[in-house]
Amino acid sequence: MDYIYFDNAASTPLRKEVKEYMLELMDSAYGNPSSTHSQGRKAKAILEASRKTIAKNLHCLPAEITFCSGGTEGDNAAISLALRDLKVVRIITSPLEHHAVLHAAETWANAFDAEVVMLEVNQKGELNLEQLEILLADQKPTLVSLMHGNNEIGNLNDIQRIGELCRANNAWFHSDTVQTVGHFDLKLGELPIDFATASAHKFHGPKGVGFLYIDRRVKVNAFISGGAQERGFRGGTESIIQIGAMSKALELSYKDLAQERAHILKLKSLFWEGIKSIFPKAYVNGLGLSADESLYTVINLSIPELENDSMLLFNLDLRGLAISGGSACSSGSVQKSHVIAALNPEHTDPVLRFSFGKDNTEAEVQKALDILKDLA
Ligand SMILES: Cc1ncc(COP(=O)(O)O)c(C=O)c1O
Repeated sequence: MDYIYFDNAASTPLRKEVKEYMLELMDSAYGNPSSTHSQGRKAKAILEASRKTIAKNLHCLPAEITFCSGGTEGDNAAISLALRDLKVVRIITSPLEHHAVLHAAETWANAFDAEVVMLEVNQKGELNLEQLEILLADQKPTLVSLMHGNNEIGNLNDIQRIGELCRANNAWFHSDTVQTVGHFDLKLGELPIDFATASAHKFHGPKGVGFLYIDRRVKVNAFISGGAQERGFRGGTESIIQIGAMSKALELSYKDLAQERAHILKLKSLFWEGIKSIFPKAYVNGLGLSADESLYTVINLSIPELENDSMLLFNLDLRGLAISGGSACSSGSVQKSHVIAALNPEHTDPVLRFSFGKDNTEAEVQKALDILKDLA
């Protein structure tokens, strides 16, 4: 059975060239980058070249990139560093954030006796930025943590405006950019952002590697104590193969960005046209139909014509279609999504998230529509 994978917001397949590069590094880059002999220096050279490539693609300085294990670690690091080293006493975030931010904010705020304030959102998932402005006006030491692209509904937040509001009110700004790094032209060094997080497996790199961007003006100490790796911010021997692969994946994503974006947008629009003709009652949760205000990869749908039972995703999987219903990181689980509940606590229709990638085809879109029609 040909399998259709429309769950690219949960994770993307490894790019062929990235896999080949990883295999090459497995043989050639076994030295410890902290060793002074030639094998160590070779590994160190790959590490620093990877950092440079990533910084170049994101228009920031190599010293602003700290490698880590991915989005969850980066989010935890940014939040805990702001509380411990920047002495913030309040975290302003939103109920639409990934659990990597929501749970981290709650845990770390408890540990530092800080408060967590949730911004209001409307039924489309738009943030109330007037409320943010009012909150920030008191000039309390604050970290604002608001994501760029929402992994469940696709909404894009205006990080330029949020960052400007933060700068104008002396607040720090962390943005979870896990869904947009490698998919959008992000000039981190020019945006008013203090911390940003990324994860390689969202842009066709390996899992378990990512980075935390920390603006050069932000003065923080180690978030993992140990050796002097990563300029002392994160102790532990660097995972050279993963890091090298991430840099290759990012470089290739940006090289082919315009063409891949156009291809994916076309698939998304064909898919939505097909859905509307099969299921006239189907509707979009969030801003998935907007070209400017949504991730082009994601469309989150409710299809009242389909039975909302816990077997829906399982049945689709059996027929060869992989999608997600709940949060990206608990794909296949039947837990009610906290994001959909924040848009509308009364929401009862089935929630299906389709997320497309560069490897998907129009034929797959057609086949997925046939599978869905079959279930109706
Ligand atoms: C928006 C967002 N933030 C954070 C994460 C967590 O990233 P990682 O899997 O690298 O820990 C994810 C993963 O689904 C995500 O979509």
